[in-house]
Amino acid sequence: MSLLELDDVSVTYKLAGGELPAVRGVSLSLEAGEAVGVVGESGSGKSTLAMALLRLLPRDARISGRILLDGEDVLAMSWGRLRAVRWAQASIVFQGAQHGLNPVHRIGDQIAEPLLIHKLASPDQARRRVAELLDQVGLPGWRAKSYPHELSGGQRQRVMIAMALACEPRLIVADEPTTALDVMVQAQVLTLIRELIATDDISLLMISHDLSVLADLCDRLAVMYAGRVVETGPADGTFTHPYSRALAAAFPTIGDLSSRLAPKGLGGDPPDPLQLPSGCAFHPRCPVALDTCSTVSIELRPAGERRTAACVLAGEAV
Ligand SMILES: Nc1ncnc2c1ncn2[C@@H]1O[C@H](COP(=O)(O)OP(=O)(O)O)[C@@H](O)[C@H]1O
Ligand SMILES: [Mg+2]
Repeated sequence: MSLLELDDVSVTYKLAGGELPAVRGVSLSLEAGEAVGVVGESGSGKSTLAMALLRLLPRDARISGRILLDGEDVLAMSWGRLRAVRWAQASIVFQGAQHGLNPVHRIGDQIAEPLLIHKLASPDQARRRVAELLDQVGLPGWRAKSYPHELSGGQRQRVMIAMALACEPRLIVADEPTTALDVMVQAQVLTLIRELIATDDISLLMISHDLSVLADLCDRLAVMYAGRVVETGPADGTFTHPYSRALAAAFPTIGDLSSRLAPKGLGGDPPDPLQLPSGCAFHPRCPVALDTCSTVSIELRPAGERRTAACVLAGEAV
């Protein structure tokens, strides 16, 4: 059984002017111990998908499909069960989450909070666990007494990761956890995440618009476009879908053959979800689109070793 299994998950936001389909029929699974990256341009539905996993979406959002966490149906959970699961089984680190720390509480108290709320530790045990967690994320124990403003942005993001680890979740969902950080600090936080998933039995669902961030951290990648997964495959393989190839070209990585073969960059903007193109939503920007692509929408299909792609040309030489 997969640790996380999404089956035909869709999320729609109700707006005054209509319904906005942010996530459209996503099926994806993640095995225990696996690191899966979700990549796509801004607006492709990545954060909506991340929030749907633990039902953290705003009230005006409607979710359909099935989300199984360790075999348990997330969409059918009671609020009480959901609260317990949120820290203890799966936790989320958000983009710029370090700004979400409470400025008037010491960070040690904030890290200890989920442990105490879920009655997983006595105050004494929680204090010891906080020291352990700070050490794990590379911060000295005395930092427990610091207030958020006394830490740098990178240190605050480490605190957020310590909080996410506090209850020993099996799955961490990280939504652009390093995007708000400068390049040096970003590298440090990525190294930390890499160490955590290597040593602990933790699975990672990591979301980024930056393919190079995901490529060397993840075992497998899923590429999203206009709310759909358009490709899945091993992180060290070569992309098949023309959109994935264009993404790879926009973030060239040294030694990655696909980034040299792919079309450079992409013209045009991602589509407006309220006015999605007919057929394959990518066809107006696609460098290799056929006439049929404007009318026929292709489901994910086998496209080589452990790879699927939603393209009419998948399986053939694109
Ligand atoms: N709370 C919301 N209400 C209405 N529309 C939203 C809301 N959050 C996101 N959207 C829309 O849903 C789409 C997907 O957004 P998002 O999931 O944030 O994408 P990403 O994380 O890939 O940038 C976008 O068109 C965005 O404008
Ligand atoms: Mg986002």
